[in-house]
Amino acid sequence: MLPVSVGSGMAGPRPPRPGDRSHRHRPAIPALLLGLTLALALGCTDEPAAPSSEGLAPHDAELAAGLDPKQVREGQAIFRYDDFGDWRFWTDTLRLHELVQQVSPRTALALGLKVDAEAIPPAVLAAVLNDPALLDEPAITRALLSLNAVVGVTSRIEDDRIVRMGITCALCHSTVDDAVAPGIGRRLDGWPNLDLAVGTIVSLTPGLPDELRPIYASWKPGFFDPRFNVDGINAPIVIPPAYGLAGVGLETFTGEGPVSYWNNYVAVVEMHGRGSFFDPRLGVRIEVPPEEDEVRSKLPALRQYQLALAAPPPPPGSFDPVAAARGEVLFRTTARCADCHSGPRFTDGGNLHEAAETGMDPLYATRTTTKKYRTTPLRALWQHAPYFHDGSAATLADVVAHYDRVLQLGLAAGAQADLVEYLKSL
Ligand code: HEC
Ligand code: HEC
Repeated sequence: MLPVSVGSGMAGPRPPRPGDRSHRHRPAIPALLLGLTLALALGCTDEPAAPSSEGLAPHDAELAAGLDPKQVREGQAIFRYDDFGDWRFWTDTLRLHELVQQVSPRTALALGLKVDAEAIPPAVLAAVLNDPALLDEPAITRALLSLNAVVGVTSRIEDDRIVRMGITCALCHSTVDDAVAPGIGRRLDGWPNLDLAVGTIVSLTPGLPDELRPIYASWKPGFFDPRFNVDGINAPIVIPPAYGLAGVGLETFTGEGPVSYWNNYVAVVEMHGRGSFFDPRLGVRIEVPPEEDEVRSKLPALRQYQLALAAPPPPPGSFDPVAAARGEVLFRTTARCADCHSGPRFTDGGNLHEAAETGMDPLYATRTTTKKYRTTPLRALWQHAPYFHDGSAATLADVVAHYDRVLQLGLAAGAQADLVEYLKSL
């Protein structure tokens, strides 16, 4: 299990000074919970603000201008908090709630779950951080759940027992900025949660058939197989970002279609939300009566929110601009990258590529409707290693070395390094 060191190296809201000896006078858990309950009753958790077009790259700002702010706000709430009725599966079938009933915040953080610090009343947050022993208390997990502070999960708690749990899009496609402690901070929607051990979590649920446990347990953090429960093949892929998709056209690694096609697929087929999904190419037909569909009516707003999520710019000083400028020239000429990664989104519209064209493992493509790979739009590469659908390139240097070999580019070491600096700047 991953080591977590919560309570050290904190920035942001400061807990009481170490000298105040609150270790000895730590609030009893019931008192803390009472504080939480009061906070909830008083409505301390603010409505999240909708993203604005401020600070976006010009292209993103242009696209954001075409979005409806009301729908974007609704879409944000759906993306973060809506389980589409999938709690039936996660509760009645997998019995995730029974597992989580005994899970401490420390274990949850070690499994890659993230905590939204802004959903927690500051005094309560300070109390927890000031006494790291509280992070070993499953009761604190329940308190965080009741505040809606665990990113990507929904829950209902009655008499200190979790009676219902579900998952939302944010589970895999949001993380936090660690402003308070590792795993605790402000939400970053659209950022893939590459720490999330989703396979491990599923493998531990009491309701999972035993023969499936070793399969889910084999998935590394940051990986998920969105087709295993359709075709039974176990070959997980990297969780990609859900930002920077405005203007891309074809979503997913294999260009399955526009955002809403995929959202409908994921919500119904993978998350087990209550809705209909039909694709004869995949042989999948799931139908519920239209009036019971908890997915379809939400797709337009969900789509608008995703299109509003801009790729985060590279941190200042994170690349060498002079080398990056040389790298850009190579990208567009000798290295031939722009043959496919072109336009403002660094992708090539409706073109899809045979796996062999870029030296990819063909397996995942063969499991999908298109059988080919989409040229991945290059967005915030600095943020989401590893690269390629199967994570086969651990670093950007590995990406460039891969292409140098497959496309027989013959790039010298210096040229490869320049190309890497350019990729870091995107
Ligand atoms: C359990 C983890 C998980 C959950 C939950 C999840 N996704 Fe994904 N998502 C993935 C994986 C893995 C892929 C890659 C699939 C592929 O490209 O074939 C993906 C792909 C995507 C893409 C395509 C990104 C691109 O580069 O084109 C979008 C958009 C997306 N998801 C949005 C959503 C939305 C919206 C929800 C909620 C309805 C959701 N996801 C729920 C894991 C998840
Ligand atoms: C023939 C078209 C083609 C060419 C030429 C090409 N790419 Fe790609 N690129 C792709 C495809 C297709 C993918 C998706 C592969 C996958 O995930 O399996 C991809 C993926 C990537 C990724 C991974 C992005 C991510 O988010 O995981 C990077 C980085 C990248 N390419 C950079 C480059 C660079 C640098 C060059 C030039 C040296 C280049 N590409 C040349 C088609 C191309």
